[in-house]
Amino acid sequence: MRGTLRDICCHNGWCFNGSIIVTLSVNTLTLIQFILNNETIATSLPPGTVLLDFIRYHQHLHGTKIGCREGDCGACTVLVGEHVNGAVHYQSMTSCLMAIGNAHTKHIVTVEGINTDGLTPVQQAMADEGATQCGFCTPGFVISLTGFCLSSEATGTEKAIASIDGNICRCTGYKSIERAAARTTAILAGCTEEDRLNFLVRNKIVPGYFSGIKERLQQLQSMVSTRRLPDLAATQERPRVLGGGTDLYVQQHSEMTYAPIEFLFDHPELTAIQQENNTCLIGPSVTVSDLMASPVITTALPSFHQYAKLVSSTPIRNMATLAGNFINASPIGDFTIMFLALDAQLVFTMQQQQRTVPLRSLYKGYKQLDKSPEETIQQIRFELPGANTLFHFEKVSKRTHLDIASVNSAIRLEMNGNEIEEAGLSAGGVGPVPMYLAKSSSFLKGKTVTVELVEELITVMKTEISPISDVRGSKAYKTLLLPQLIKAHFMTLFPALAAQYTAMRNQG
Ligand SMILES: Cc1cc2nc3c(=O)[nH]c(=O)nc-3n(C[C@H](O)[C@H](O)[C@H](O)COP(=O)(O)OP(=O)(O)OC[C@H]3O[C@@H](n4cnc5c(N)ncnc54)[C@H](O)[C@@H]3O)c2cc1C
Ligand code: FES
Ligand code: FES
Repeated sequence: MRGTLRDICCHNGWCFNGSIIVTLSVNTLTLIQFILNNETIATSLPPGTVLLDFIRYHQHLHGTKIGCREGDCGACTVLVGEHVNGAVHYQSMTSCLMAIGNAHTKHIVTVEGINTDGLTPVQQAMADEGATQCGFCTPGFVISLTGFCLSSEATGTEKAIASIDGNICRCTGYKSIERAAARTTAILAGCTEEDRLNFLVRNKIVPGYFSGIKERLQQLQSMVSTRRLPDLAATQERPRVLGGGTDLYVQQHSEMTYAPIEFLFDHPELTAIQQENNTCLIGPSVTVSDLMASPVITTALPSFHQYAKLVSSTPIRNMATLAGNFINASPIGDFTIMFLALDAQLVFTMQQQQRTVPLRSLYKGYKQLDKSPEETIQQIRFELPGANTLFHFEKVSKRTHLDIASVNSAIRLEMNGNEIEEAGLSAGGVGPVPMYLAKSSSFLKGKTVTVELVEELITVMKTEISPISDVRGSKAYKTLLLPQLIKAHFMTLFPALAAQYTAMRNQG
């Protein structure tokens, strides 16, 4: 295959000046290949290199900004296009947390890559609405809104505004940006799903070269479908397992560049969400956005979408995996709390051997797991809630969006009429690990739901938790908060109970 390189550096002591455009035959030295804007890239840089650094320091494309480098601000947002099932599917991602290894065989779009001969309609909307002041955040917003235009969900101002939930602006106060998002939605009037790309090219929302990206990605995938990392064996170092990198690249930013890495996203067979009878089987590369889009999940857990929207932001959800959330072992991991209540099981593999571990027995102490370093999650399983199963999740954080929880909790109740047949209650932020509240869960079995039962449950629950004071809240605050979340579970799932609580409150 022939590729055009603007900059290649294999850290073997030779490199080209980034400004010289060279064309060379891609040989075995070249490991990572992708399309950056309209240019095919082949690079021997370590696959752990941060995409943002590659874009700015090796490709000298400075439109993509460096803000927090922790996934929070969205100044570094790029679009990542993947060829799946005959179409290119674009998602926004934060390039500061993305390894170039995860760009392999993809189309990466920076703000330079959407340039046409003037401002694009999205840029024009931002300018017309006064949605840019210092301009530092603007490329990120423009990229996210352009990603919205490319997505099949591009209907309605609400979704346009949701697409910029991972972008922060210090200057504008957001109202002007929201108006620009509304204008973007209006620009799309008349765009049909079948004609989306042609419409976007005709209206200069994206440049004409986008029309040829599908074929170019197909060609790239067929040439380099499997990436081999020849240096892994040589280093003798155990490779780090990488999902989306939204935890690893925050915690171990510099170490990751030269670390040997096992890229989970390299294995398409690990991205499946399947239903086998009543069991849901989830691959370790499944992202939160994949879960939100899955009919299996949304049918069984209709509120999942609403709960997931409380977790991080669109670009982070597009990268973050469920497996990464479990192994990260944060005591307030939102999906860990949900899947503890759902009684998920993890299938670990190590050298062809498998073992199944209930998620509830994974956590042994703060960031200590019942897992050897060599074991990886191969599959996540849980019983799909049936018609008689109720599920609810609550999270309290300082901000509604893009914030981690002070305390969170989930509940699963399998009902037989008014009686609870089986229960799972979990809580985060009230101990050193994400907690499955075993005593409280078994206390609920066989009981009928009443206000008195909820009050007794709270008494049992208090014997199981051990919150500490930290930046997310004091011990006293968290001890007061969890009972409120438990009441919220029951008041949401049993509206009659909500009426009783309201009457009790009114009586003083
Ligand atoms: C801005 C921002 C906001 C966030 N907000 C939230 C939030 O609101 N709630 C929340 O819960 N989390 C939040 N997170 C944390 C993070 O996004 C999640 O924990 C995410 O699910 C991690 O998944 P990942 O694929 O990115 O993990 P990675 O960083 O790729 O990996 C995390 C860890 O899991 C290991 N790992 C991954 N997959 C496997 C596997 N299959 N087998 C064995 N080990 C594996 C990795 O080796 C690593 O140790 C946030 C992160 C950021 C950057
Ligand atoms: S630099 Fe802030 S999200 Fe990447
Ligand atoms: S315009 Fe200054 S940060 Fe948004």
